[in-house]
Amino acid sequence: MNRLGLLGAVLLACWQTGAAVRCSARQYEYKGRCCDRCQPGEKLVSECDGTEESVCTRCESGHYQQSWTKERHCAPHDICEDNAGLMVKTEGNATHNTVCQCRAGMHCSDASCQTCLENLPCQRGFGFVAAKAMARMSSPCEPCAEGTFSNISSKTEPCHPWTSCEEKGLAVKVKGTNTSDVICAESGGRSSLSVLIPIAAAVVTCLVGICIYCLVHTAPRRQVQKQIEAGNMENVEQKQAVEMGDDILLGQETLLRHQPVAQEDGKESRIAEQERL
Ligand SMILES: *[C@@H]1O[C@H](CO)[C@@H](O)[C@H](O)[C@H]1NC(C)=O
Ligand SMILES: *[C@@H]1O[C@H](CO)[C@@H](O)[C@H](O)[C@H]1NC(C)=O
Ligand SMILES: *[C@@H]1O[C@H](CO)[C@@H](O)[C@H](O)[C@H]1NC(C)=O
Repeated sequence: MNRLGLLGAVLLACWQTGAAVRCSARQYEYKGRCCDRCQPGEKLVSECDGTEESVCTRCESGHYQQSWTKERHCAPHDICEDNAGLMVKTEGNATHNTVCQCRAGMHCSDASCQTCLENLPCQRGFGFVAAKAMARMSSPCEPCAEGTFSNISSKTEPCHPWTSCEEKGLAVKVKGTNTSDVICAESGGRSSLSVLIPIAAAVVTCLVGICIYCLVHTAPRRQVQKQIEAGNMENVEQKQAVEMGDDILLGQETLLRHQPVAQEDGKESRIAEQERL
């Protein structure tokens, strides 16, 4: 009996102290009753009692109340301090606070954004990021990522991608950094090849030239000799002349050449005879 009485007392206590459990999310417990909370945009004027419901009233101008509340005061809108570089982004109303932002060309000094800082030019190695400038939350300058560079201090210039030497069919002469562009080799790392190829070509041309010269200047002599040899087969005297030497050979050759002409023209014959002598 005693135990049961104790349990009953505990349960009763729980039921009484845990009275809030009965009240809905949009109510609150007051003196053992559930009173309605005030809706967003309103504040409490008086709690409910046995007969009356909660009394709420609209937030005064320049104030807001965002949630279901039992508060008797609405919070004042934030003021966007011009001196701090702030301006209104969204005007406040009874349910929402005013939202401030930094003026164009400025950004928040910290996460709370109570004050703004002037955007400084993005230094070499840093580029201007338009989206960050639009947000005005932090500096619009970001370090140039690998493969991009900025070689000037500027309030508007983004990081630019390195020149692609490959696209131009050139070799890389100097690697790019975050502050300098890639430098491509002047019309190629071919430079060594572009020297070697003409030299090789010149050498080959010379060799071919020499060969052709040799062929051209040796072939006719052989031909002459062949012709003479062929003639000697018919003429024993000429064969002897060939054996006697070049001087006589030449004379003999001239004689042979002029013989048909000599038959028609006496002068020619005489010249031929003079030549022979
Ligand atoms: C109050 O402002 C908020 C945010 O700007 C907006 O969504 C809401 O519709 C406004 N309420 C009224 C009643 O104008
Ligand atoms: C640029 O590169 C240098 C060397 O690689 C590095 O020390 C420096 O921190 C980089 N600067 C930026 C802005 O990333
Ligand atoms: C920056 O880099 C560009 C492209 O390589 C070049 O034309 C320009 O002269 C450089 N400017 C400075 C200040 O170094």
